[in-house]
Amino acid sequence: VLIVNVSELVTNASGERGDLGVIVDAAVAVVDGRVAWAGPSADLPVEFRGREVLDAGGGAVLPGFVDAHTHLVFAGDRSDEFARRLRGDSYEDILAAGGGIHSTVAATRAASFESLVADASARLERMLRGGTTTIEAKSGYGLTTADEVRVLEATIAAGERSPVDVVPTFLAHVPERGMDPEEFTTLVVDEMLPAAAPLARFCDVFCDRGAFTVDQARRIFGAARLLGMRPRVHAEQLTHTGAAALAAELGAASADHLDHATPEDAAALARSGVVAVLLPAASFSMRTAQAPARMMWDAGVAVAIATDCNPGTSNVENMPLVVALACLEMGLTPEEAVWAATRGGALALDLPDRGSVVAGARADLIILDAPSYRHLPYRPGTDLVRVVLKGGRVVHS
Ligand code: NIG
Ligand code: FE
Repeated sequence: VLIVNVSELVTNASGERGDLGVIVDAAVAVVDGRVAWAGPSADLPVEFRGREVLDAGGGAVLPGFVDAHTHLVFAGDRSDEFARRLRGDSYEDILAAGGGIHSTVAATRAASFESLVADASARLERMLRGGTTTIEAKSGYGLTTADEVRVLEATIAAGERSPVDVVPTFLAHVPERGMDPEEFTTLVVDEMLPAAAPLARFCDVFCDRGAFTVDQARRIFGAARLLGMRPRVHAEQLTHTGAAALAAELGAASADHLDHATPEDAAALARSGVVAVLLPAASFSMRTAQAPARMMWDAGVAVAIATDCNPGTSNVENMPLVVALACLEMGLTPEEAVWAATRGGALALDLPDRGSVVAGARADLIILDAPSYRHLPYRPGTDLVRVVLKGGRVVHS
């Protein structure tokens, strides 16, 4: 297929952070699910002329969004807790009293496998309509070995039924209530990780007050490493614990949230090449201060932005909204935010053939009903994604 009449093509070709490599009046040739050629229409090589044409209608074309941090599989909802927090109750108090994550764990355990897959599939379909073509999806609402395995299996099943690629992560979310956290950590290391390893590419730990300590996280990551799972870390979200420094020390794939990160954390992440996955919709939904995105970016950190889609802190599925929040609430430029939502996400997931439109890249593309990528943050809340292609095939229009 040959995509023509493209007002602006975002290529991310240079690999430089924030350099969108925009080509004006562009065309994209797709062969066997991959980009064969991308450039100015006037330079289209003869071999690609006369192919089946997809008219972009003067819209902008971008790489599909790579949402590098989601909690895709869960049951129930927490709109009651949402309303309580708006009346002044705190997230941490609700969690400590057995609500929050624990209430989602109870609902998830009670749900059938089929309903978990059906709910996750519906979420994936809405994500796809927003232009997301690849996501990372964490377990973490099981908290027993059998339930964590079931959540990972539901994650994989939902991915198989959707055009969206789903990359599973095992998440050590919180210690089971009533259980000694050290004992629970031992259970994670001895039992959950070996059971999760065949199903998950990464291992994440929620390292924060009310969840796991840095020392417990270190134990879990050490064991995960031996099983072939690369670390990613829920770091410095509610409080500053030193989890970002741990991510840097371990060469994690990413450190995520980072609301309370310091300049020293930013320097350490930049030095070690750990991607900072920032989640503006979470702080927005929690009505808390945003992560210091500008500081991170200026320190040279590779930044990704993601939804953090989950029933507690960020019931958000839509990457265009996240792009808008990254600009309007965090102060990134449209170029930085769009890069972070595409190439940044691909780097965070270690998927180098996504998030750019260059020869050889997977043809995961979106066509906007707008002439420029800048309209994404400029027009928050307007549905601007007109067509989504996955591996060169139209999967939404
Ligand atoms: O990324 N921080 C921990 N985990 C989720 C929230 C989970 C929940 O509240 O259900 C997050 O914010
Ligand atoms: Fe999260």
